[in-house]
Amino acid sequence: MSSTHRGTGSGPERGGGTDPAPGRRGGLLRTKTVEESIRDTEEPEHALRKSLSALDLTVFGVGVVIGTGIFVLTGKIAKETAGPAVALSFVVAGLVCALAALCYAEFASTVPVAGSAYTFSYASLGELPAWIIGWDLVLELALGCAVVAVGWSGYVRSLLDTAGVHLPQGLSGTHEGTFGFDLLACVLVLALTAILVVGMKLSSRVTSVIVGIKVTVVLLVIIAGAFFVTGANYEPFIPPSRATEGGDGLAAPLSQLVFGFTPADFGVMGVFAAAAVVFFAFIGFDIVATAAEETRLPQRDVPRGILGSLAICTVLYVAVSIVVTGMQKYSELSTDAPLADAFKAVGHPFWAGLISFGAAVGLTSVCMILLLGQSRVFFAMSRDGLLPKLFSQVHPRFGTPYRSTVALGVVVAVVAGFTSIDELAELVNIGTLFAFVVVALGVVILRRSRPDLPRSFRTPLVPFVPALSVLASLWLMLNLPAETWLRFAVWMLLGFVVYFAYGRGHSRMNSRTNGRTGRG
Ligand code: ALA
Repeated sequence: MSSTHRGTGSGPERGGGTDPAPGRRGGLLRTKTVEESIRDTEEPEHALRKSLSALDLTVFGVGVVIGTGIFVLTGKIAKETAGPAVALSFVVAGLVCALAALCYAEFASTVPVAGSAYTFSYASLGELPAWIIGWDLVLELALGCAVVAVGWSGYVRSLLDTAGVHLPQGLSGTHEGTFGFDLLACVLVLALTAILVVGMKLSSRVTSVIVGIKVTVVLLVIIAGAFFVTGANYEPFIPPSRATEGGDGLAAPLSQLVFGFTPADFGVMGVFAAAAVVFFAFIGFDIVATAAEETRLPQRDVPRGILGSLAICTVLYVAVSIVVTGMQKYSELSTDAPLADAFKAVGHPFWAGLISFGAAVGLTSVCMILLLGQSRVFFAMSRDGLLPKLFSQVHPRFGTPYRSTVALGVVVAVVAGFTSIDELAELVNIGTLFAFVVVALGVVILRRSRPDLPRSFRTPLVPFVPALSVLASLWLMLNLPAETWLRFAVWMLLGFVVYFAYGRGHSRMNSRTNGRTGRG
């Protein structure tokens, strides 16, 4: 058990009078104090093993961040939305994430408990907002995992095809209107579930090897690719704006509809529309915070892990996109495997094969960590009584929330089997950006409501940086299609129904509230 946890918990506990009044705690905005969150992690039946260091967390961060975004979306977005200026889109998305990361880092260093934005919101905004965030995180984590599994299966099929092995169409996933069950994606998720059940340390070790391969392949693209760059491919760097074919109505970015623009690709607006999509490439750095409870020195190491992995990924993305759009004219980039195919285009199929292999290996770790993050968020929600208890029982030998992991793994495997990337990546993005908004607001609120809490990392320039983070995240959300907003609204509505039908009545805060009232 971590002495850090005890240290954090002991100070404010001594002054029990800092707890909000019992009356305030009975409503929809009742908050779970930071001390309560930390105390819960110390109950033996709910205690996770604390074994991770800052380096482990950075490896986790890079492991989950570099994936489908850079390996798959770069080509499609350069070709259809931004041209070579996709590099600028990565900068824009990276800046939005950096602002959010500064807020996540403060929260994670103050509330080092499994559950990420969910836990943070419970401590600052109250139970209903926390539930909303927990529900919303399913979009980022579980759905994100399914989307990446499908991307992975595409790369593996392409490698198998090269080797002369062809899967029947019915088991090769859904493509351009033709339905097929994605067998490979489904099997991948089930295999990763088994690894996660066996234990955090094992999955961390597997991840380290995978991340090594992935980063090597990305560096290979940057260094080897630089020799094949042709200056003419960068002209025009920001292609002139052009009206989107059939892109009006629900498929157009909400910002264009709201502000009355004719829906268009490329141009400066295209850079932002592209940023809202390539944002997917950054998803995951916040997941480092979900592992806070399993970290030896969370107050120091979680902020290092979050900011470190984000910085590494931003530099790599910008470099990769500049090199790839320099190797091949943006209009000719492939949409399935753009990095590998750019090498084929300059006559180096061997490198292309190596890159495909690295991408397939690399996407594995993305999937695994997204699944891990989701099981930990469910773990935290279940420990609070908002979800059934089975999600928070820890395996006596492995020290992992095995039931939660298995239940999730099976559901995500089925979803991955039936999912196509295009429709769902944007839904993952909107869900994640929404969580960013809530976390940034939460930092400001917690500074006011609990100024006494020890914060080993403090977001600079509060409330300016959190406010900027909220605006930046909202701006990217507005650049997503109107239909994505609609799907998001439906999902969140469903969440309200579940909360009022189950969570509200089963919340552990009910007995806590009664206990306090009784004592008082
Ligand atoms: N950032 C992760 C990816 O690009 C989710 O696949």
